[in-house]
Amino acid sequence: MTTPLIAPSMLASDFARLGEEVRDVVAAGADWIHLDVMDGHFVPNITFGPDVIKAMRPHTDKVFDVHLMISPVEPYLEAFAKAGADIITVQAEATDHLDRCLQVIRGLGKKAGVALNPATPESAIAYILDKVDLILAMTVNPGFGGQAFIPDVLPKVERLRAMIGGRPIHLEIDGGVNPETGARCVAAGADVLVAGSAVFKGGIDGYRANISAIRSAGAAAVRKAA
Ligand code: DX5
Ligand code: ZN
Repeated sequence: MTTPLIAPSMLASDFARLGEEVRDVVAAGADWIHLDVMDGHFVPNITFGPDVIKAMRPHTDKVFDVHLMISPVEPYLEAFAKAGADIITVQAEATDHLDRCLQVIRGLGKKAGVALNPATPESAIAYILDKVDLILAMTVNPGFGGQAFIPDVLPKVERLRAMIGGRPIHLEIDGGVNPETGARCVAAGADVLVAGSAVFKGGIDGYRANISAIRSAGAAAVRKAA
């Protein structure tokens, strides 16, 4: 395990200045850009779709980590691939055909991810481990930024890390991440931390300090675990 990757969620940015916010958060040290797509059906909130992601794409070469909280999801995979996603993550609960979804994503030349709501057990994905590049453990109920971290998910994060074993699969955490909760997730086995409200405050200098605080707390947790 190495220092965790930090993936700021644009959900907490100023939507009126998305391009500038992408450039600023990258300049502030973001490793990936996390993009939360919500449909008002799978989750009780609506954000943005492929056209908005396409508009952000020219502003950075960093990995676009697209988290789809939409159902149905299958009809839209190609549009998100074309919009410039690098990783496309679907919620395990949003499809009856998870296996097919993951194959379609890889067939589009993208990395495939699967997300689990806090209440969804890891057994839901035991059979597709060879078909995913990323597992995302939600540590809030999806739909909104700024919610409190749910610590009860941590034992599942440990079990997911054990399930992953030597496979080249990222284990990402999303929801309520700050330096303290992020470090606990890294100690439990996470290697990518999504953070929205803990990053997007204080302008670009604030973004830099916020990202670096989450990264160093995570790195310290890696060292402690080693
Ligand atoms: C929640 C989203 C998250 C959200 C995280 O449904 O998937 O990515 O933006 O926001 P914070 O870090 O504020 O909890
Ligand atoms: Zn997300």
